[in-house]
Amino acid sequence: MIKAAARNLSWLYARSSYVICREIHNKKVIFSGIQPTGAPHLGNYFGAIKKWHSLQNEQNDCIFSIVDLHSITLPQDPVKLRQNIHLMTACLLACGIDPKTSILFLQSQVPQHAELSWILGTFSTMARLSHLPQYKEKSQNLDVIPLGLFIYPILQSADILLYKANAIPVGEDQLQHVQLCQHLARIFNNKYKTVFPVPSAIVDETCARIKSLRQPDKKMSKSDMDFKNRIELTDPPDLMLKRIKESLTDFTSAVTYDPENRPGVSNLILIHSLCTGKDFETICKENEHLDTGQYKLVVAEAVIEYFKPIQYEMNKLLSDPVYLTGVLNDGKEKAQEIASRTINEVKEAVGLSASCL
Ligand code: TYM
Repeated sequence: MIKAAARNLSWLYARSSYVICREIHNKKVIFSGIQPTGAPHLGNYFGAIKKWHSLQNEQNDCIFSIVDLHSITLPQDPVKLRQNIHLMTACLLACGIDPKTSILFLQSQVPQHAELSWILGTFSTMARLSHLPQYKEKSQNLDVIPLGLFIYPILQSADILLYKANAIPVGEDQLQHVQLCQHLARIFNNKYKTVFPVPSAIVDETCARIKSLRQPDKKMSKSDMDFKNRIELTDPPDLMLKRIKESLTDFTSAVTYDPENRPGVSNLILIHSLCTGKDFETICKENEHLDTGQYKLVVAEAVIEYFKPIQYEMNKLLSDPVYLTGVLNDGKEKAQEIASRTINEVKEAVGLSASCL
């Protein structure tokens, strides 16, 4: 009997340590970034930032970066860029990114990003980079294409690999960039030694591509010159209402979800669903007595309500620039510690380190 109890106990012990090990093993290293090219819009929020917040709250090791080096691939006014960095910091904190649990930092404050980018660039090919859709899209209307625009996906791979991240929460438009990163990690590991995990993208299918308000065949985008195409998290309630009222729907007045044939109204239903937690069917049923013009007012109210507490928090944070700078400085220290460990390992593997001599 004593023997049986001991067997049970050791089984229990083995089982519980197995669970603990699995939990430790399952803990992900999350990395993601956002460009400080203006306030985040609904696409950035639902496609990325909200997911960052939930991954942070699931006890993963989260590292989030305001990627200012990426933003200068297209011309930026220095004064405006600095303001946008502060604005983005306040927005991310207001959206729930907690600098005590996650590392939140400014990319240019950690020079190892540029260093690793150079090393990865030595085995990236122009053929592969020229096929990336974002490059094609952004360079389309330019007479002269800056080199930075062409090579920035390598910098993005360096961002991820520097922290040995294995899970990358992004919107759909970043998928090919994460695939390039997987490819570069594999090449490096095979060529030198296994240093990097091969990361996976985390993409939430429903909100991976929030559409533009007036051109619902395109994604909502920060670089769109027409502000009417997006709602920014800093937009006051009356502007949010105006943007939604002016959004493009179609000649059918019923509120029905059909993204293929009715992309405009379906995009509004999706936004409404994300703001209220209601499913599409419930939303269509509840609003069947309204035409799309009247329905837009319902959507606007839901969006305004959803972002009210975030905006309140954001305004509080924006009035304390010293705190915001402090958060980024703390983040820099923590990020640099990890980044310098990885870059030393990389240099050692490549033969660049003095300690190899
Ligand atoms: P950026 O600044 O363009 O966008 C930030 C995040 O928002 C997502 N997103 C969207 N999601 C859904 N619907 C939309 N309409 C929409 N628009 C944007 C983007 O997919 C992204 O996740 N190169 C990146 C930043 C970056 C990065 C990284 C990301 C730099 N290094 C390393 C991940 C890992 C960019 O320009 O994102």
